[in-house]
Amino acid sequence: TRTQDEEDLPHATKKTMADHLRKYESLFTLTPQRMRMITEAFSETLDLGLKKPDQTVPMIPTYVFGWPTGDELGDYLALDLGGTNLRVCLVSLQGSGKFEITQTKYRLTEEQKQDDGEKLFDFCAECLQTFILTNMGSVSEPGEERKENEAVPEALLKPGQELPLGFTFSYPCDQERIDHGKLIRWTKGFGALRTEGRDVADMFRKSIEKINLPVKLTALINDTTGTLIASHYVNPRTKIAVIFGTGCNAAYMDRVGDIEKINHLGIDPDAEMVINCEWGAFDSFHHEHLPRTKYDQVVDETSNKPEEQAFEKLISGRYLGEILRLVICELIDEGVLFLGQNTYKLEKPYCFDTAFLSLMESDPTDELLMVIGIFTHFFALETTLAERQFFRALARLVGRRAARLSSCGIAAIVSKMGYLEEGCSVGADGSLYNKYPGFADRVHEGLVDIFGDKGRNIVTHHAEDGSGVGSAIIAAMTKKRKDAGTY
Ligand code: GLC
Repeated sequence: TRTQDEEDLPHATKKTMADHLRKYESLFTLTPQRMRMITEAFSETLDLGLKKPDQTVPMIPTYVFGWPTGDELGDYLALDLGGTNLRVCLVSLQGSGKFEITQTKYRLTEEQKQDDGEKLFDFCAECLQTFILTNMGSVSEPGEERKENEAVPEALLKPGQELPLGFTFSYPCDQERIDHGKLIRWTKGFGALRTEGRDVADMFRKSIEKINLPVKLTALINDTTGTLIASHYVNPRTKIAVIFGTGCNAAYMDRVGDIEKINHLGIDPDAEMVINCEWGAFDSFHHEHLPRTKYDQVVDETSNKPEEQAFEKLISGRYLGEILRLVICELIDEGVLFLGQNTYKLEKPYCFDTAFLSLMESDPTDELLMVIGIFTHFFALETTLAERQFFRALARLVGRRAARLSSCGIAAIVSKMGYLEEGCSVGADGSLYNKYPGFADRVHEGLVDIFGDKGRNIVTHHAEDGSGVGSAIIAAMTKKRKDAGTY
């Protein structure tokens, strides 16, 4: 006998939805064996990146040496240019792993992401200026008198003194020193002109100088590097940091002597340095190791950077909604879904936010009322229960695949560094990790699938704000090194 739902044509029947689901299950499911193969290839790729310059996964030496002591002190500014927002923070490090933070977010428009790079950095400098004016009172020229009752931190009150700034710029940059970084390529949909191949620290410095801000850019930092340091500041078991946000990437600490490509620099081989893996680029161009479906290929081909960031495109928040949307659109074209309804709203690329996947997966109602809400409210489409269950199951497949692929990346670093036996903590941050229900559990399950029971020794935890606090700690560590003449 057919249920009410199944007779409710022209909506798809329960039976056909279940059939379709089986097909997608086989496309999006990763077996433990496949995961182990990916992990092995990943490990080899990481090693190659440390050995030779200019590799696809560049394994970038960051010139952040060693762990923080927890006793870093002082006021620091941090400017965070991530994937979605621009954020300015004032971080006051108080020692013993304690800190206070004041911050403001500024929205970036799509045009700003694609327009001239110089304009983008000018805008960053203007936001910094606004932040300083609103949070610290007006900026005085050296020697100029200040009005009473202006709330200005000690450091800014001294004439001529500049506040140190950590610039968290979360895109791959080749670094020769900590306050330098040549942009290798934009990622996460950015494409600002005349920026790739140039020193972004220098570009930003020029924008700061144009408006005479009393600020000195002392460190250029990737968000993963900041996250590693900030996590370790409060939890010294942290050995790896991963960002699961608009993009996906990891950092860890390595021995300088094992970073073969910088051996010629004569740095103490026993010193330790953070490596920003830029693992989002794994399997780019050749596509030998990752299970890419035809939907992933469309995401790639229609992106502003085809062939690049192959791993990231299967995992990060920027792309998961789009992958699911492409599956739905295929079923619309095949006449399986939404027959007789106008689907134009769903046909717009990137209209299906990754947050919708989180919402669908966390819907606690039997009727899947949140899924009804998403489709009626955002796309003016009616759905049957069978369809909603199908969408939710699809979200689960796409979300689970992302988490399990991430486990392969983490496992590759763990194997390479020999962390499995003693175990380690992985500081994680980003909207997927923080908001997607069950994401962390799936990463942990993946680690057990790869390593067996010992995989339980590797545990992720929500990291401290790396782009703000981490950036400030690194600026403080840099200052310490400079003062001690070890720079
Ligand atoms: C992208 C960027 C990388 C960043 C990550 C997370 O992968 O290339 O630098 O760490 O996104 O924001």
